[in-house]
Amino acid sequence: MPRIHLAEGELIRVFGPAALNVVTGEIEVLGALYSAGERIIIHRLRSYTILALKESVLEVNLGSEGTIQAAGQEDPYLEWRKIAEEIINGEPHKIMVIGQVDSGKSSVSILLSNIALNKGEKPAIIDGDVGQADIGPPGFITLSYPSGKTVWMRTLKPRAMKFIGDIKPQGHMFQIIQAIKQLIDISIRDNRSPVIIDTDGWVMDTYATIYKSTLIEEIRPDHLVVIGDGLYEIYKKYGSIRIKVKMIKPPPSKRERNREDRRYLRSEKYKEYLDGGKPVKLGLATTIISGHPLFHGALVDPALIQEIIGVKPLYASKTPDTLYMVVQEPIKNPRLDLLKNAFGVQRIRYYVAGFEKRAYAALIGDQTDYPAMIEKIDFTSGTIYLKTKELTNTHIVRLARYKLTEEYHESLLEY
Ligand SMILES: Nc1ncnc2c1ncn2[C@@H]1O[C@H](COP(=O)(O)OP(=O)(O)OP(=O)(O)O)[C@@H](O)[C@H]1O
Ligand SMILES: [Mg+2]
Repeated sequence: MPRIHLAEGELIRVFGPAALNVVTGEIEVLGALYSAGERIIIHRLRSYTILALKESVLEVNLGSEGTIQAAGQEDPYLEWRKIAEEIINGEPHKIMVIGQVDSGKSSVSILLSNIALNKGEKPAIIDGDVGQADIGPPGFITLSYPSGKTVWMRTLKPRAMKFIGDIKPQGHMFQIIQAIKQLIDISIRDNRSPVIIDTDGWVMDTYATIYKSTLIEEIRPDHLVVIGDGLYEIYKKYGSIRIKVKMIKPPPSKRERNREDRRYLRSEKYKEYLDGGKPVKLGLATTIISGHPLFHGALVDPALIQEIIGVKPLYASKTPDTLYMVVQEPIKNPRLDLLKNAFGVQRIRYYVAGFEKRAYAALIGDQTDYPAMIEKIDFTSGTIYLKTKELTNTHIVRLARYKLTEEYHESLLEY
């Protein structure tokens, strides 16, 4: 295996896939220290700057697309660790990280956590990115307590998870803020500090700016790390309410993830949480189903609908402005306008039985929610069939805004 020699203080950038064995000396990756005999695996979708703390020899095994670059003393990593040290030495309670997609938010969060661990503290990380979802499954906000060396957030295990039900933060601002607050409360009860809050990369428009600002104002971190000087100009004003705002630069070259890579990473997480799930039956009458308009209205007797249009739906419900139905097959010649008058609604919406198959969902618990997948809702017998790995004693099943294909890719759920 090829070996490389690093002088003390030397920096290199390694692009995965790669495996590094430390033969002699000591190196640092995102604040985690590795000495002789230890090994680091770098995934094909990751890159890291490595700093030699002592004169070191590394055995390097590069995969087909793996590469190593020399990095100079101008590498932002030196600045990152200096700022991270300063923050951790300042006895922080809540640190929030903000930056664009792929700017290094999760890496900085891990760096802060590793430095806190090195100092004997008990950090918590909140993965507030519903789309990338490094710790928990996609569509969730997750809390984790890192305990050992970690260079990739995806290897952490969740302590608690909160379901948002979408992979986009847009339109879910208050739910996300609420979920992050609840997870902070859990971490405080568990005596964890500092809490490091990693956020999603939606920052480049006005609404994103309003969302991130509201998040900061509601969470009130004592430290805010902003990646990139353009964003820093926007968020530095929080210094005036005693939030310590620090700017860092994104890595100059890094392994970027395209849409396909991100879709692949999400599908791997869905598999991890859903594959091998056990079948569970719940009664429609004793379970609250939420997240989908069909289940939020008052029940309507299907026979009343049959009298008007000659078709008896399997299920019907009514919100103040819409009548919802589930029917066995598409309605031919629908005289749906007749229903509007009869039920005093402005809209009629119907779904064909089976529309719910493979809907992504969560079992809602007190502290933590758990992913599930709907197999079928049998409206005739009033039974919800779903699969989940965690048989919590739940009475609320919340549907996501989408379904999952056999390959665990998101697909449209009629809404
Ligand atoms: N110092 C560094 N040198 C080189 N590459 C780095 C460095 N730090 C992070 N990276 C790489 O940059 C990429 C983006 O990092 P990271 O996942 O931390 O960003 P992010 O902002 O959390 O992204 P996302 O928006 O997808 O959540 C990753 O491939 C990561 O391995
Ligand atoms: Mg991230």
